[in-house]
Order: sequence, then C-alpha cells, then structure tokens
Amino acid sequence: MNALQNKNIVLGVCGGIAAYKSPDLVRRLAEAGANVQVVMTGHAREFVSPLTFQAVSGRAARDTLFDEAAEAAMGHIELARWADLILIAPATANTIARITHGLADDLLTTLCLATRAPLAVAPAMNQVMWSNPATQANIALLSQRGVSVLGPGCGDQACGETGAGRMLEPLVLREQVAALLDDTAQSLAGKSVLITAGPTREAIDPVRYISNHSSGKMGFAIAAAAAKAGARVTLIAGPTTIAPPAGCQVVAVESAAQMHQAVMEQAAQHAVFISVAAVADFRLKEVREQKMKKSADEITLTLIKNPDILADVAALQNGRPFCVGFAAETHDLENYAADKLARKNLDMICANLVQSGGDSVFNSDDNALEIFLRDGGRISLPSASKTRIAHTLVDLIAERLG
Ligand code: CTP
Repeated sequence: MNALQNKNIVLGVCGGIAAYKSPDLVRRLAEAGANVQVVMTGHAREFVSPLTFQAVSGRAARDTLFDEAAEAAMGHIELARWADLILIAPATANTIARITHGLADDLLTTLCLATRAPLAVAPAMNQVMWSNPATQANIALLSQRGVSVLGPGCGDQACGETGAGRMLEPLVLREQVAALLDDTAQSLAGKSVLITAGPTREAIDPVRYISNHSSGKMGFAIAAAAAKAGARVTLIAGPTTIAPPAGCQVVAVESAAQMHQAVMEQAAQHAVFISVAAVADFRLKEVREQKMKKSADEITLTLIKNPDILADVAALQNGRPFCVGFAAETHDLENYAADKLARKNLDMICANLVQSGGDSVFNSDDNALEIFLRDGGRISLPSASKTRIAHTLVDLIAERLG
C-alpha cells in the first residue's frame, strides 16, 4: 500500500447512487497515506453532502470553477498540477461522455483537461446505459488514450436490474489505484506479452451459440499488470462485458477458430504467451445457416474438437514464447494440472478449483491459484483480488524469464 503514501489524489464524484460509497473510498485512500481532494459535480450534491466529504478528507469539497475563496487558496490549474492522479468514482455515463469529448463545463471536467496526471474512471450506472454503444465507444476511446477504466462490477443494481454497471467496492478501487501509482515495478520492460482472455462462442445457428461462464476478468487483470510492468501487451479477447485495460492492444474475436488464427499470426513475435481464455474445446460440425426450428422433441448436435491454441503455440519450432497455461478443475487439481503442464509442453500452469456453477472463479473479483512449474516447483497464491494475483503472477513470470 506504500504506493499511496503522500500521493495527491483528486477524487471526482458524480451524481449517481454509488456516490454513497465515495466517502468510504476517501477514508480508505486517506488510511493508506494519500491526500484526497474531493471535486463534486453539481448532481453529486443531490446524493452526498459536501460536508460529509470535508469530514472524511479534512479538505473542503470543491464543486465549482467560480468559488473565489477556493480559487484564491488553490486555483483550478494549480489543483490540476497538484494531482498525482485523478480518480472519478463513481463516473456516470454523462461525465464519461463529457471527458471523452473534451468538455470543460464544470470544475471536474476542466481539471481532467488541464492535468498531466493519469486519469482513472470507475463507471457506475444502469446496465443498459453501460452496454449502450455510445457509452462503450466512449470507454474504448478513453482506454485507447491511456485512461484506466476500473470496473464496473457485475451484480444487483440499485434500479432493481442485474448486470454490469456497479461501481467497484472502495477496497478494490484502493488496490487498483495503488497498482496504478506503483512506479517501482517494471519487471517486464522491453518484453512483449501475448494474452488470451474471456470465453469463446461457438455458433449453432445465426441466433444461438455454445459458450461458458468466463468473464475475462483474470486475463484482463494480467494484461493490465503486464502493461504496468513495462511490457508491450497484445490481448486477444473473446466476448466480454468488461472494459479493456489501458495501454494494451486489444484484438476482439468470437470463436475458438478466430482466436487460434489471431494467436498463431503473432505468437512467435512475443516473449511470453499467457493463455487465460476459456476456449471451447468443441465446435459444431455444421453451423446451420438458418435458425433451427423446434419441430423435433429431441435433437442431436455433432461437435468436433477445436484446435488447442496453447499446445500449438508451445509446439512452435521457431520463436516459441515462454508458455503459461491456466487450468480450471473441479477435483484432483494437482494431478490434472501436472498432466496438462507435461502434455502441452508448458513452462508454467496456474490451476484453480471451480465450485459447482462456476461463478466462484469466473465472475468473482477474487481468485486463488496453485502454480506448477516445468522444473517441478510449486507456488501457492492464496485468495486475493484478481488485480493482486495478476501482479504477483507477472512478477513470477518476469523472474523466470531472467
Ligand atoms: N486452451 C487453449 N485452446 C483450447 C483449449 C484450451 O488454448 N482449445 C488453453 C486454455 O487457455 C488454458 C488451458 O489450455 O490455458 C486449459 O487446458 P484444457 O486442457 O483445455 O483445460 P480444460 O478445457 O479444462 O480441459 P479438460 O477438459 O481436459 O480438463
């Protein structure tokens, strides 16, 4: 948590119900040694009082460009220079749109334009607003510009719906912010890393497919950690609802065949290949061109095996990268993981236990890994956030690369 000691953080708070969590976030950041200046949008005042933020941060919350007393104490340009990081939590769809388009119509958006500090946003909104193409395009653009998009999480929403759009919890945000501000770890500087993440979709007909519970969170966290450690990262991602990590080149694919092609085109140009994707092992022998009708009481779908992407990369004769696999097992973890390590000719395999339903690993923000190495070594990473696990894993890989 030392990365936060004496760091100056401008915390932007927008008008969304998740703003009730922001005073706790201020406390958590302050506990870790950060100096926090809260800047509220006009709508944020409808949810939390400025006095609450003053009490937890020790600084009067600011919300306007035109406050003479506040400007005399620290003008907005000075405040933009003071910040080591601007974190907007919660970030509403409206403020995300405003900063994407460079508006400066209140103090917060003006600071975003006027700062050289890194910018991070923690989106919080109704799931339909989050998945709206306008919001998704804005997020993609911000991400390309190097803005860190933290979350959103998935689950029950204040509006009664369920889906992606919840602000991450304050402790998770604190950890992610600490990782962003940690400039000590550049263990993969100059190296290039290729990562697959998320599920694949195998079409049955034009409207149906076979897929799995993978959320992409673990792979995206590893991509972010590798980029943070100085690597050039290419992320080949199956369909997910989470925002792509900043600073990575992202290639979106759907099926295992597309993922296989995208990986094989690039693998030999990378020093490391981390295969986190939950690739469907089988695809339909014949994909129907037209929607199947439910006329029969029973149907049989014939599946054929997909290529094993990881095994194909590990078998490369020229330019074989350091190969890291993942194994999700419901039982007998050690034997199955060791078998996959040998059978696929890997350098490292990260195994986790999946409980029934799969949600405990796939959708969770936490994970625990048992890592098995080619030389017989074994390392346990006990349950921690996927961000923390990702940083530890990246460091372990960097050590082994030498
Ligand atoms: N993998 C891959 N291509 C596939 C299948 C899996 O690259 N077609 C990779 C995954 O990304 C992961 C590892 O291989 O790194 C998982 O190994 P796998 O043997 O496929 O695991 P399971 O599907 O769980 O296999 P099994 O059914 O044998 O347990």
